[in-house]
Amino acid sequence: MDMDLVLAVLSRWIHVGTAIVLVGGTSFMKFVLGPVLQGQSPELVQAIRNRWKKFVHGGIALLILSGFFNYIRSMPMHKGDGLYHGLIGTKIILAFVVFFFASALVGRSAGTQKFRDNSGKWTAVVLLLSSLIIAMSGVLKVRDNEKAKVAVSSPASESAPKE
Ligand code: HEM
Repeated sequence: MDMDLVLAVLSRWIHVGTAIVLVGGTSFMKFVLGPVLQGQSPELVQAIRNRWKKFVHGGIALLILSGFFNYIRSMPMHKGDGLYHGLIGTKIILAFVVFFFASALVGRSAGTQKFRDNSGKWTAVVLLLSSLIIAMSGVLKVRDNEKAKVAVSSPASESAPKE
């Protein structure tokens, strides 16, 4: 099997799988665990944060590695495609904003304490931005699939003017 194809499939599995675990886990925190933890001991809340932190840090590393791999791979196919570059650039910037909030929510430094003090609000912000990121990624994918369909149904040889 073509090695390039294997790497592309692997990196897609890693990227989408990691996004599912992180966004799913964050939704669980916001809508299930958060409300149940209200008024529980700070030690319990901290123990949960410490465990979730490993997923957040590992997940961010995997998303960045697989994301840049996807990005480098897809660049030659999108030369001069302004909409693609605008959307993917905005998506990557938003992803780094999400990484900052997600890290602050599981962090320990005094500078980011205000995010943990208001964790319900900032977890909602993470979910909202993540939904936007997923929506943008979906648009890019569907748009590429549509372009590929058009290219197959009207190859350059057919559409070129006849001499
Ligand atoms: C919160 C973080 C992120 C989430 C939730 C996320 C989610 C996704 C999803 C769901 C897809 C697949 C779309 C599909 O195939 O239907 C995707 C594709 C992609 N992602 Fe991410 N991603 C994140 C961060 C990043 C980062 C940091 C980068 C780059 C450094 C990146 C680069 C890409 C690229 C290049 C694609 C392929 C887009 C295309 O179809 O051309 N992503 N992402």
